Amino acid sequence: MTDAAARPLVRIQNLAKSFGKVQAVRDASMTILPGQIYALLGRNGAGKTTALRILLGLARADRGQLELFGQPLARHRFDALRRIGAMVEAPSAYRHLTGRENLLVTCRLRGLAAAAADDALALVGLVDAKNRKVKGYSLGMRGRLGLASALLGSPELVILDEPLNGLDPSGIREVRALIKAMPERGVTVLLSSHQLGEVEQVATHVGILHDGISRFEGPLQELRAAAKPALRLRTTSDARVETMLTPMCTQLEHTADGLWVLQEPNRSAAAINRELVQAGIDVHHLEPHAASLEDLFLELTDAAAGEAA
Ligand SMILES: Nc1ncnc2c1ncn2[C@@H]1O[C@H](COP(=O)(O)OP(=O)(O)OP(=O)(O)O)[C@@H](O)[C@H]1O
Ligand SMILES: [Mg+2]
Repeated sequence: MTDAAARPLVRIQNLAKSFGKVQAVRDASMTILPGQIYALLGRNGAGKTTALRILLGLARADRGQLELFGQPLARHRFDALRRIGAMVEAPSAYRHLTGRENLLVTCRLRGLAAAAADDALALVGLVDAKNRKVKGYSLGMRGRLGLASALLGSPELVILDEPLNGLDPSGIREVRALIKAMPERGVTVLLSSHQLGEVEQVATHVGILHDGISRFEGPLQELRAAAKPALRLRTTSDARVETMLTPMCTQLEHTADGLWVLQEPNRSAAAINRELVQAGIDVHHLEPHAASLEDLFLELTDAAAGEAA
C-alpha cells in the first residue's frame, strides 16, 4: 500500500523549455511532498517563472516529465488545476473595486460560489477591509488579497511566483506569516524567490535553479548543514592568529574589515576564543558568520555559471 501522505504532489523531471534561442529551462527537477513550503530559488532569469507557468499549463514544456497529484500532467490537467491556487503574475487587482468584489470577479471566472471569496478573505485576515476599495489598501493588504485569490476554492497546493516582491517590510512580514500557516490548513506551498534571505524563515524545502538547471534540492536544514559555520574575528595580532588557526580551520580568509575564519565543525567559537586568549592574544570581536547560507546560495549559482561557460 502506498503511503498517501508521502506521495509527491508535484514531480518534475528533466524539464526543458526554450523560447526561440533562449533556453529558459534546461534541466529542472523538483519533488514536492504534502505539507512542504517549497522555495524555488534562483537569480533573475534562472527560469523560475517559466517552470511555474509550465506546471500551471500556461506554457508547454519541450521535454521532461511532469506529474501533479501523482498523475501525468498532460492527461489530467483540468482535474489537477482545480486543486491548485496560483499567483503567478504580480497580484493585479481592480483598484476601483473592493477587495471582496475583486475576489468575486475571480470566483465568477472560475465557477466558484461567492462563499469562496468570504472564506478566502477570512483566511488572510481581510474581513474588516473587504468592502474598502483596493486603491486604499496598504501594500501588505494587497499582498494578502493576492494570497486570498490564490486560496479561493480551498486548493491543496498553492503556487506563488515571488509573493514577497514589491512589498514593504511590514507587508513581507504579513504575507510570510500567512504562508507559514498554510501547511496547518492542509495547503502545500510552492513559491519562487530570487533571494534566499527572504524565504529562509518560511521555507521547509528549497530547490535551487541556476541558468535553467537544478543545482540543489532538499530540506532547508540540509542546505544549512552544507553551509560551513564561519567565525569572524578581530584581534590585535592577525599574523599570530593566522599561524595558530591555519592548522585547525578548513579555510582562513582575510577581509578588509577583519579576519574571517571558516571553522572546523568540531571546534566551537568558545574553544577557539579560549585558545587565542590562552596564547595571550586579545580578541576584540568574535561573531558567527550569519550570512553563510546566503554565501552558499551564491556559491552554488556561481559555480554553475563557471561550469556552463
Ligand atoms: N515568453 C518568453 N519569450 C522569450 N523569452 C522568455 C519568455 N519567458 C521567459 N523568457 C526568458 O527565459 C529566461 C528565464 O526567464 P524566467 O522569467 O523564467 O526567469 P525567472 O527565474 O522567473 O526570473 P526573475 O527572477 O527575473 O523573475 C530569461 O532569459 C527570459 O528572458
Ligand atoms: Mg520570474
